[in-house]
Amino acid sequence: MTIAITGATGQLGRLVIAALKTRSPAAQTIALARSPEKAADLGVETRAFDYSKPDAQTAALAGVDTLLLISSSEIGQRAAQHRHVIAAAKAAGVSRLVYTSLLRADSSPLSLAEEHRDTEQAIKASGLDFTILRNGWYSENYTGSVGPAVAAGAFIGSAGNGRIASAARKDYAEAAAIVLTSAGHSGRVYELAGDAAYTLTELAAEISRQTGKAIPYKNLPEADYAAALVGAGLPEFFARAIASWDVAAAQGALFDEGRALSTLLGHPTTPIAASVKQALGA
Ligand SMILES: NC(=O)c1ccc[n+]([C@@H]2O[C@H](COP(=O)([O-])OP(=O)(O)OC[C@H]3O[C@@H](n4cnc5c(N)ncnc54)[C@H](OP(=O)(O)O)[C@@H]3O)[C@@H](O)[C@H]2O)c1
Repeated sequence: MTIAITGATGQLGRLVIAALKTRSPAAQTIALARSPEKAADLGVETRAFDYSKPDAQTAALAGVDTLLLISSSEIGQRAAQHRHVIAAAKAAGVSRLVYTSLLRADSSPLSLAEEHRDTEQAIKASGLDFTILRNGWYSENYTGSVGPAVAAGAFIGSAGNGRIASAARKDYAEAAAIVLTSAGHSGRVYELAGDAAYTLTELAAEISRQTGKAIPYKNLPEADYAAALVGAGLPEFFARAIASWDVAAAQGALFDEGRALSTLLGHPTTPIAASVKQALGA
């Protein structure tokens, strides 16, 4: 079986390849990367694959049975990029396409959802055998702010009392590796999220507990949070997007209690306390 992974040099892609190596050492794994030299350390075959260069994609997928299309990080260009990859997979004779989408992409209020909806429609219309992994939030999206929060003496956001059912990137990567290397996932759409949801007040309390410092959660109006992120050096477009996602989180967009992720994994998802600990140790 030949399995290829797009975005292989990204944080999720690297974890998927590591999980594939332990789960299915006999499978031939191909890392598809826009800069193949960045994938050289992965220890698998590498091929050049740029989401924005459709002309070379069909040849790059030659001999691939199963393709994991990890959604592009180029927000705004993704719908077109993903449609090219789906067409190339079809032309190359790929048997199965697995796509990393967004939790409840069909109804999510997150601004990210539209491109995922478009891609899911294109996959279903393609006639390819497919599995859709609707990934919830990465815990790292929040634990990436642990250091700055400790330095500033407060964890800021706009998520109010919204409950967030995040999981570690490696949980989603392991789930992808399982789906790529086992049968029974044809036509399935999985809503994947962490087992235990938390509010940002609870996350701040956990940071306080682990550091022994008082780090309260400070809820800010959306515009103030975006301005704080710009002040911290983020581009305005991205700062505004992050603040808007927090407002959606306040309305429940990141909550889920279906436990489909731990069911797929066969073990609980990584608790947020473990992700905080990892972030503090980094
Ligand atoms: N669920 C969540 O909470 C969450 C959070 C963030 C992102 N995401 C989504 O999940 C995806 C994977 O997450 P991640 O953490 O692995 O993201 P990441 O670390 O930023 O990796 C993004 C990957 O996409 C590749 N890429 C970007 N533009 C490309 C292009 N034009 N052609 C080919 N490859 C391209 C990058 O290649 P280079 O190494 O060459 O840059 C990199 O390998 C993201 O792309 C995004 O769609 C989900």
